[in-house]
Amino acid sequence: MLSSEQNERLTRVGSGTPMGDLLRRYWYPIATHAQMKNRDTLPVRLLGEDLVLYRDLSGAYGLIAARCPHRSMSLVYGIPTECGLRCAYHGWHFDKTGACIEQPYEDTENPEGRFKDRIRTPAYKIAESGGMLFAYMGPDPVPVLPPYDLFVAKDVMREIGYAVVPCNWLQIMENSLDPIHVEWLHQHLRNYVAGKLGKPEKIRNPQSHQKIGFDVFDYGIIKRRVLEGRSEADEDWTTGHPVVFPNILKSGSVSSPAFQIRVPMDDTQTAYWWYRCYTPESGVPLHPQPKDEIPLFSAPVPQLDDTGLPQWDILDNNSGQDIVAWITQGPIANRSLENLGRSDKGIVLYRKLLEESLQAVAAGKDPMNVFRDPDMAPIDLPVEKAKLAGTAGNVIKGLRSGNTTKYSPLLKELDTASR
Ligand code: FES
Ligand SMILES: [Fe+2]
Repeated sequence: MLSSEQNERLTRVGSGTPMGDLLRRYWYPIATHAQMKNRDTLPVRLLGEDLVLYRDLSGAYGLIAARCPHRSMSLVYGIPTECGLRCAYHGWHFDKTGACIEQPYEDTENPEGRFKDRIRTPAYKIAESGGMLFAYMGPDPVPVLPPYDLFVAKDVMREIGYAVVPCNWLQIMENSLDPIHVEWLHQHLRNYVAGKLGKPEKIRNPQSHQKIGFDVFDYGIIKRRVLEGRSEADEDWTTGHPVVFPNILKSGSVSSPAFQIRVPMDDTQTAYWWYRCYTPESGVPLHPQPKDEIPLFSAPVPQLDDTGLPQWDILDNNSGQDIVAWITQGPIANRSLENLGRSDKGIVLYRKLLEESLQAVAAGKDPMNVFRDPDMAPIDLPVEKAKLAGTAGNVIKGLRSGNTTKYSPLLKELDTASR
């Protein structure tokens, strides 16, 4: 249980809050190249700020405050120029550093006044990797965009999923340190939902957890678990899904690993990215994938219908089940009401890591997973060893059985091709 003050400390993400300051030390995905292919601007909400991502006529990306500092029109309607974005209301022109480089009327009537020199708008750094655009909102010096394995993987096919989850980012992360929910939310509830949908039980033998454990490793926390019928000698006790500090879960199998990336939009909304890579089984051709053609899909957020009934057809898969658990904890889970047991030791450990990094930032040091070497090698992260056998072929079977991949456009395409 946390006090209300401790809960605030861990959940508030605005500028000037302790967690807001810590979270500003990291890069966050904000869009995909494919998303930007046929548009010039995109509204972005990140860490409590409304921003606009734009591509100028030279092809460069910029990220600046959405509100024009003149009289607040949204720059989502801005007009791209050779070197920036021009407000549609009165033509003020901003470059990607946030400098106001032109004010057409002021420059005409009173050019020597150079009013523009006194105007700046917030602007943030952009980097690109693996088909995504990332933003950094923290202090200089800007850290390296971490070369986590899936972002830099070669010879894979990628696809990216997206949802806006209406709750605080921390309860989503804590779910990743909670192996016991897999047994209940993804097995027993899944079977119950199958019954509601008039389908046979999905999981014939739900496996109960006998023991769970957690290890801090270089980049976060690795989960371990012993399932019913297994022993501590089994490989899946030694390696479960790693949680990459502060906001990524690496899930999936060796041949179809995924990052689940939780990006705090503000205190009560989280942008959720599923970033998947598939290694096709031999014989299945690798589709060439230019960075702006990586498929993007959206996953629905379950709600109660007008009569208060759950949407069972969205709750038949992991993402629907997880999301409904997170959002029904409230916009910001009230941790002064929780009663943690032994099942929650991973959550306690993760909060401890957060606290250590909060203190590092307060002391002027780098927190966990802030990297400074521009020539650093790719970071290989483990995947759960119990799922070694996956290939694109049996992922297709996964699609047919209705798991999380039911929204995957790439798998639908492969599935159709394989029939
Ligand atoms: S509101 Fe943007 S130029 Fe006037
Ligand atoms: Fe889950």
